[in-house]
Amino acid sequence: MNKKILNFIKKKNKSKIISLTAYSKNIASIIDRHCDLVLVGDSLGSVLYSFSSTKKVTLDMMIEHSKSVRMGVKKSLMVVDMPHNTYRNSKEALSNAKKIISKTKCDAIKLEGGKKVIQTIKTLIKNKIPVMGHLGVLPQSATNFKYKGKETAERKIILRDSKLLEDAGVFSIVLECVESSLAKEITKTVKVPTIGIGASVHCDGQVLVTDDLIGLNKIKARFVKRYSNIEKQINDAALKFKKDVIRSKFPTKKHSY
Ligand code: KIV
Repeated sequence: MNKKILNFIKKKNKSKIISLTAYSKNIASIIDRHCDLVLVGDSLGSVLYSFSSTKKVTLDMMIEHSKSVRMGVKKSLMVVDMPHNTYRNSKEALSNAKKIISKTKCDAIKLEGGKKVIQTIKTLIKNKIPVMGHLGVLPQSATNFKYKGKETAERKIILRDSKLLEDAGVFSIVLECVESSLAKEITKTVKVPTIGIGASVHCDGQVLVTDDLIGLNKIKARFVKRYSNIEKQINDAALKFKKDVIRSKFPTKKHSY
């Protein structure tokens, strides 16, 4: 395991891990200052492209956005989501993960699932590709977005999967919409950091989609807390620009040649 990844793992039980998503350079360079991990999430499918799910996100889309993000991320760990249907077997996963790493220079990839993807994860790690796991609600295959871990049988599967992921060698696990006491149990059980989204305060760290955080995305999920209303700021700026142009107040001599 490389030093950057090892330092990331060492944060468990020391300090809370901060993670946000970025899909482009400018946002990446701002959040990088405050993050331990910047995720190029396939949530970009719904957030930027208005896809009804993340299933339509392609490898090329992830690569192009990640290349932009790479220019903004200087200190955080940069992780890229492998999109749907790009890791259906170990061979396909290895070829696509290598492509993502070589073209984007990211530090690691993330993929969704438990037992089903264990062999794939082992193959990637054997080939020196750091992998982040993702359990709970799995948007690439979900039929609904209800939180996970209410039923005993479901809890057992998620807990088992977290151990399988740890044994396979993932360096961290995202827990998405996982019931609080289960997220707590997983976080206590596994030695690698858990990063929650809708999975309670008990996780080792938290991740949010930046567009949700700043009020650019209109999602109304329980796990989202809006920290800013950037939509209003952009709207106000566009309106002022419009008024200035109509009144010939912009451009002035200062802005002309
Ligand atoms: O795609 C994404 O942004 C994610 C986070 C929500 C964890 O996977």
